[in-house]
Amino acid sequence: MADYKVKDVGLADQGELLIEWAQAHMPVLTLIRDRFEKEKPLEGVKVGACLHATKETAVLVRTLEAGGAEVLLCGSNPLSTTDEVAAALASSGTPIYAWRGQDTEGYYWCVNKVLDYGPHITMDDGGDLVNTIHSSRTEIIEGVKGGSEETTTGVIRLRAMEADGALRYPMIAVNDTATKRMFDNRYGTGQSTIDGILRATAVMLAGKNFVVGGYGWCARGIAFRARGMGANVIVTEVDPVRALEAVMDGFRVMPMMEAAKVGDIFVTSTGDVNVVDGKHMRFMKDGAIMANSGHFNVEINLPALEEMSTGKRRLRQSLDEYQLKDGRKLYLLAEGRLVNLAAAEGHPSEVMDMSFADQALVAEWLWKGEKLEPKVYDVPSEIDETVASLKLQGMGIRIDALTKEQERYLRSWKEGTL
Ligand SMILES: NC(=O)c1ccc[n+]([C@@H]2O[C@H](COP(=O)([O-])OP(=O)(O)OC[C@H]3O[C@@H](n4cnc5c(N)ncnc54)[C@H](O)[C@@H]3O)[C@@H](O)[C@H]2O)c1
Repeated sequence: MADYKVKDVGLADQGELLIEWAQAHMPVLTLIRDRFEKEKPLEGVKVGACLHATKETAVLVRTLEAGGAEVLLCGSNPLSTTDEVAAALASSGTPIYAWRGQDTEGYYWCVNKVLDYGPHITMDDGGDLVNTIHSSRTEIIEGVKGGSEETTTGVIRLRAMEADGALRYPMIAVNDTATKRMFDNRYGTGQSTIDGILRATAVMLAGKNFVVGGYGWCARGIAFRARGMGANVIVTEVDPVRALEAVMDGFRVMPMMEAAKVGDIFVTSTGDVNVVDGKHMRFMKDGAIMANSGHFNVEINLPALEEMSTGKRRLRQSLDEYQLKDGRKLYLLAEGRLVNLAAAEGHPSEVMDMSFADQALVAEWLWKGEKLEPKVYDVPSEIDETVASLKLQGMGIRIDALTKEQERYLRSWKEGTL
């Protein structure tokens, strides 16, 4: 058995059942896995992955392994590992370093364990592998052919590194490709954030004032799903175009300071810091609930909340009550970490099928191609088209194809009003 550190390897049988259930809902990745098994495009490749260690990630890991890769996995958030799944991967021979409830030191110990193997390809969700490599493990850079990034926050960090001339190997922005961002961020985060809030609180959403911080891909998914549950959704934004879109989608839009006074439930998903700040918490109603679905636990100002409080109690898993000095009580879900992963199971398998198909095909493309310049690259459009076509095929949906006449018409600049 490979080296590993997980909570309890005895949970492996339960983990296998979870992985089996995810795989049954991931037809695209299954097709890729079948091909990888025959062609072995990743023979001899060490893939260092820092991803949420969930059942869907396990399906990706086994797809890459089927292609001949050695996958080294650590979690990408201290609270997002499914311990049963981690146990299953450990017992089937994947070097994995992940358990739920890590402290920061434990988290980076795991990141460094993965780097000790000297990966040829890195796969990040939030950029912690890339950041650690560039800051304290630079000896690894020479052997890395390239990497990929799964989330918006990670891509923002990479683009900042590129602009500073600090990026030392090529990175592919998997997050930004249509078959990832339009579906995973919107429908995945939309559904699973509601799932996380309900599992943590079991409160009724209908009739509640539900404040969504941001109106990007993730936040608009959350806003639509909350409205579908009967909540009165209020959106806060800093980008006038996105704010206008929210207005025209039928949501109320106002500054957070105003929303703070009327909101029952607050959810952030912006990638920004202190979107819900102490100054907002001062005006919140007694009993208000706060959650975050952005990548890092900085969107709700936790130090300010602690400072305003005289004490806190854990009422149930992922639900903390803060007793404020003025007598009010505020509630925080999942310690301000990604509520959909920490309080629920993250995105549904069906949507991770596409994101992880992108990851698997990008790994193959990176490995087979020439070594690229150290820049941030988009996913090649053929990969996007392949994933969308395979997904439609998996769903049993057929679409039309352009006729020769239509192709000619669309290419021509000579056609106009008849
Ligand atoms: N929970 C998950 O599973 C999950 C999945 C995908 C992405 N993410 C993370 O969610 C975050 C958002 O991702 P996205 O793809 O929606 O990004 P995006 O760039 O599409 O949207 C972010 C939006 O937040 C707005 N914003 C920034 N600062 C704000 C502020 N102070 N107040 C109000 N709005 C503000 C921006 O104007 C923008 O419209 C990122 O951190 C990303 O990594 C989480």
